[in-house]
Amino acid sequence: MSFSNDIYEIIKTRRSIRSFNDKEVPDELLDKILQTAIWAPSGKNFQNWYFYVLKDEKLKEFIKIYKESWEYVKPTLEGKLKSKIIELTGKFFGNIGNAPVVILAFSDIIPEEEPITSMGSVFLAIQNLLLLAHKEGLGTCVLGRVEQKAEQVKKMLNIENKEFLCGIALGFYNRESPAPPRREGRSHWL
Ligand SMILES: Cc1cc2nc3c(=O)[nH]c(=O)nc-3n(C[C@H](O)[C@H](O)[C@H](O)COP(=O)(O)O)c2cc1C
Repeated sequence: MSFSNDIYEIIKTRRSIRSFNDKEVPDELLDKILQTAIWAPSGKNFQNWYFYVLKDEKLKEFIKIYKESWEYVKPTLEGKLKSKIIELTGKFFGNIGNAPVVILAFSDIIPEEEPITSMGSVFLAIQNLLLLAHKEGLGTCVLGRVEQKAEQVKKMLNIENKEFLCGIALGFYNRESPAPPRREGRSHWL
């Protein structure tokens, strides 16, 4: 299924998806999305983004690490979220909603660049990725908080000298989450 060509509609209808079906994601489609996502702006045009696509065995390895990160995420949510939401979040940390693909995003460590600029550039490419995936009928969910397991993730991929930023779960899905309403008053015209 391919969604609208209207960029306004694509942006507003993208949702974080936390439950995936087992329909295979074609490699050609994923490659097209990744090759297009990198047409993002980047500080000093460093193009400092790296994406690692995990499937099958490597994905299982990552899920083990992700699951461990729940230990320190859980206490940070207690008292702030309803217990049902905490339970569902814990489940997601255990299986990533059966996503068939997880993409791990990294940045070069650039001594002469402020971290906020280099990381920001990668997140701009990530947003492109999320929107392109949505246009192609694929669901995505950014996986935060696992950056605290960065050393284990880097060891798993045999990566040094790059900063691990986040994961992105990706796959086809049957049902989307409701749209959380956007907060008002975030634009100020002077
Ligand atoms: C940096 C970042 C980290 C996120 N981490 C998680 C996460 O660990 N688990 C999760 O289920 N959703 C995560 N999300 C998704 C947000 O919860 C979601 O974007 C937000 O609730 C708004 O919903 P929407 O994406 O459907 O509009 C993350 C989003 C961002 C941008």
